[in-house]
Amino acid sequence: MLFTIFFALVAISAVDAEFDLGIGDDSDLFNFVTRPELRAPRFNVTVYDANRVTPGYWFVAPYASIVQQTQPKRYYQACQTGPAIYDGAGNLVWSGACEFRNQNTCDFRPFRSNGSDHLSAILYGWELDRKGRGIIMDSSYEVSHSINVPRAERSMNMHEMQMANDGKTAMYIIHKSDWVDISELSPFGIQEEAGWVFNIGFREVEIDTGKALFEWWALDHVPLSTSSVEIDGLDGPPPAGWNFFHMNSVDKNADGDYMISARYTDCIYKISGTDGHIIWRLGGDESSFALDAFNFSKQHDARFIEQNATTTVISFLDNASDGVNNVTSDVSTSYLVALETSVTPMVARVIRRWSRPDGHLSHARGNFQLLPNGNAFTAWSGNAYITEHAFDGDLVMEAGFASERFVTYRSYKHNFTGHPSEPPTLKAYAYGTSPATSTTVCYVSWNGATEVDSWDFYRNNSASEPIGRAQKTGFETMFQATGYYPDVYAQAISASGQVLGRSSVQLTVKSQDWQSQHTYKSQNVLSGLLTSEWPLLKSYGL
Ligand SMILES: *[C@@H]1O[C@H](CO)[C@@H](O)[C@H](O)[C@H]1NC(C)=O
Ligand SMILES: *[C@@H]1O[C@H](CO)[C@@H](O)[C@H](O)[C@H]1NC(C)=O
Ligand SMILES: *[C@@H]1O[C@H](CO)[C@@H](O)[C@H](O)[C@H]1NC(C)=O
Ligand SMILES: *[C@@H]1O[C@H](CO)[C@@H](O)[C@H](O)[C@H]1NC(C)=O
Ligand SMILES: *[C@@H]1O[C@H](CO)[C@@H](O)[C@H](O)[C@H]1NC(C)=O
Ligand SMILES: *[C@@H]1O[C@H](CO)[C@@H](O)[C@H](O)[C@H]1NC(C)=O
Ligand SMILES: *[C@@H]1O[C@H](CO)[C@@H](O)[C@H](O)[C@H]1NC(C)=O
Ligand SMILES: *[C@@H]1O[C@H](CO)[C@@H](O)[C@H](O)[C@H]1NC(C)=O
Repeated sequence: MLFTIFFALVAISAVDAEFDLGIGDDSDLFNFVTRPELRAPRFNVTVYDANRVTPGYWFVAPYASIVQQTQPKRYYQACQTGPAIYDGAGNLVWSGACEFRNQNTCDFRPFRSNGSDHLSAILYGWELDRKGRGIIMDSSYEVSHSINVPRAERSMNMHEMQMANDGKTAMYIIHKSDWVDISELSPFGIQEEAGWVFNIGFREVEIDTGKALFEWWALDHVPLSTSSVEIDGLDGPPPAGWNFFHMNSVDKNADGDYMISARYTDCIYKISGTDGHIIWRLGGDESSFALDAFNFSKQHDARFIEQNATTTVISFLDNASDGVNNVTSDVSTSYLVALETSVTPMVARVIRRWSRPDGHLSHARGNFQLLPNGNAFTAWSGNAYITEHAFDGDLVMEAGFASERFVTYRSYKHNFTGHPSEPPTLKAYAYGTSPATSTTVCYVSWNGATEVDSWDFYRNNSASEPIGRAQKTGFETMFQATGYYPDVYAQAISASGQVLGRSSVQLTVKSQDWQSQHTYKSQNVLSGLLTSEWPLLKSYGL
């Protein structure tokens, strides 16, 4: 066993030299014998209350830096950046990093449609000339739809692509440069009479036809004077422009109205799905609500939770800071808020709030998800720091990437069933010097398969002789059998005993000293050093 691990590490570092141009310590990345190219970041799980944590997978999309997308050649480094699924305890389930060629990915999450699970994401990579596009995958991880913005628009905004209408439509954020008369700003000391403004809005499209069902632009509805950020970019040619609004989420309720969050007006807006007028504002300079003993700023991810005739319940993430000043708080917080809309004046009251357990601010990105059982899952973004609180406030899960070199824009927790179209991958090695003295060690994995319970191993002879069964463990399962099996394959077995898939037949790799008396140089050193302490090695003839 120890020897096999040692041997495997040697094998992997040989592959690394070819793939991983990244220099330095890679202990923060997964290492697999079967998939040496998949080097997804590992999580450190620091709190895990198995009885109270909600069942479900984490949907995360690690990236190192937003400028990484300008370096296509780095595609050849091992794959780390891109959509990834982890089980709720930090084991990798699927990495799409190689499939999407290490491109930056945002807002990766599952949705239900046509009775099965699907995945959506925004690709924001070098391959698309920074134009970005939305993609939809089915539960076999095949791309079924691509959602592109019209040529005249700058790019698919990275913040949001949310499916609606049972997965028939997608809502996403759009932007363009508009030349505007800004003389209305002269009281604010602005000298220019006109300039470029970075206009932002959202669109809902049918995924099958691309047809736009609704479109809304901030400049048509929101005065520039409500922005809380410095005017910049007015003089430059597009794409320069004053980013006055910075919209970062869009959601839709059962009535067909929308809710958007704008970071640079510190405000959440409800927008009529009929004519686009602003129905109410929460927060900012012109709030339609009296805020009962709370405030927020630079918020993200406003979501409708439920509503009745008198009350609308929403959630959002208050990052409370712009990285320069702590605008409203020293700590970022997830909020569940009741908006009482039938009283005058309308009132907003906090139902629950859950703050970052480590007491820090999320200066950028992040999202909050109220789970079906009332638990609160928050992605604080930097370092993929994620937490789950019970509704009453107890922390039941806390995790983050093992290193600080990756972030994720958002993370989600959902149930998901994945049946990959690609087959399982198997590698087999024989240790020993002859068939009589050998042990055959198999490694097997199936990127993205969620339903595998155990693996059955077979010889590829005319009798398909069974070698044995191993319970699935994490992304990759190791299985060891006494004897020499020259050609091996594995079948994935579900909990109910169904065969889910089968690897190709692999010829077993024999050890270097197969059927020879040759002593290689390290053998004396190894046996001198190790055999006294590691009796297992002795039994393998070392
Ligand atoms: C759902 O099925 C319909 C009809 O086959 C198809 O047009 C649509 O693209 C499917 N939706 C998704 C998300 O695949
Ligand atoms: C409406 O929802 C609020 C908050 O969930 C609840 O307190 C209230 O009782 C509900 N009103 C009605 C009429 O159902
Ligand atoms: C909130 O997050 C935004 C990024 O979305 C960041 O630019 C801003 O600095 C944060 N707010 C504060 C006050 O730190
Ligand atoms: C925000 O609310 C906190 C707590 O109620 C209060 O201490 C703080 O002064 C408020 N800040 C602003 C800018 O209103
Ligand atoms: C902002 O809050 C952090 C704690 O999250 C604190 O360390 C820092 O001093 C605060 N900065 C300002 C300018 O108040
Ligand atoms: C994750 O755990 C490892 C091992 O305990 C530790 O060295 C590392 O510092 C941790 N990472 C973070 C970000 O805390
Ligand atoms: C996953 O499914 C289980 C069982 O139905 C449910 O209790 C749990 O809340 C679901 N998890 C999520 C994240 O929706
Ligand atoms: C597997 O066994 C079958 C039947 O004995 C044979 O036809 C096939 O060539 C074998 N495959 C490999 C890769 O050895």
